[in-house]
Amino acid sequence: GPADRFATQLLQWFDVSGRHDLPWQHPRSPYRVWLSEIMLQQTQVRVVLPYFERFVAALPDVRALAAAPLDEVLALWSGLGYYARARNLHAAARQCVEHHDGELPHDFDALLALPGIGRSTAGAILSQAWGDRVAILDGNVKRVLCRVHAVDGWPGTPAVEKRLWTLAEAHLAGVPEGRMADYTQAQMDFGATLCTRHDPACVPCPLQHDCAALRAGRVGELPTPRPG
Ligand code: ADE
Repeated sequence: GPADRFATQLLQWFDVSGRHDLPWQHPRSPYRVWLSEIMLQQTQVRVVLPYFERFVAALPDVRALAAAPLDEVLALWSGLGYYARARNLHAAARQCVEHHDGELPHDFDALLALPGIGRSTAGAILSQAWGDRVAILDGNVKRVLCRVHAVDGWPGTPAVEKRLWTLAEAHLAGVPEGRMADYTQAQMDFGATLCTRHDPACVPCPLQHDCAALRAGRVGELPTPRPG
C-alpha cells in the first residue's frame, strides 16, 4: 500500500545511482532482455557485456537464433561457462518459432514452459520487456528481503522461499505506474552494489529507516547461512 516505501525508495536511489547504460536497456526488446537475463543468471554484469554485444550482433532476434546451428551458438557462448544455458536458449528459440510465431511469448506460463526460464527469470523478462507487474526473486533479492524484513532461516528452505515470494509480490503494489522495468533493475543493482553479502553499505542505504535487520543490529547475521 501507500505506506510501503520499499519500491519508491529503491527507485529514488536507482534514478541517481543505478545502471542506466546497460545494452539490453537500449534498445529494450523482449529478445534482448531474455538473452541478458540468461547470461546474467550465473555471470556478473561486467563479464556479460562483451558477450552480449557479440551475441546480438551475430544473432539479432529469435528467428536468427533458432535458425543458427547449435555449434554457432556454443561458439558465441564460449568463455561464459554453464553451457546448458546456451543449449536451452537455442532450444527455446526453436520452440518460439514452432509455437509462438517466432516471438518470445508475452505470457507467464508460456515463458515458464521454455527451457532455461524459471519463475524469477520469467518475472525479470515480463517486467523489463513489457512493464508487467511481476516479482523477481534471485539471490540478490532474497538477501535484501531477508534483511529488510528480518526473515530468519536459510532462503534455500521451501518455507522461507515461499515467505520471500510473498514479500516480493507485496512490494509490487508500491511500484509507480510505468516503472516496473526500472524497479526490477533497481533491485538487481541495489543487491549487487549496496546490500552486498559481506560489508553492506548501510550508511548510504535508501532503506536504512525501513530495514528490520539494521534496526535490530542483525545485518551481519542475515540472511541465515545454509546449515551445516
Ligand atoms: N542479474 C540478473 N539479471 C540482472 C540484471 N538485469 N542486472 C544485473 N544483474 C542481473
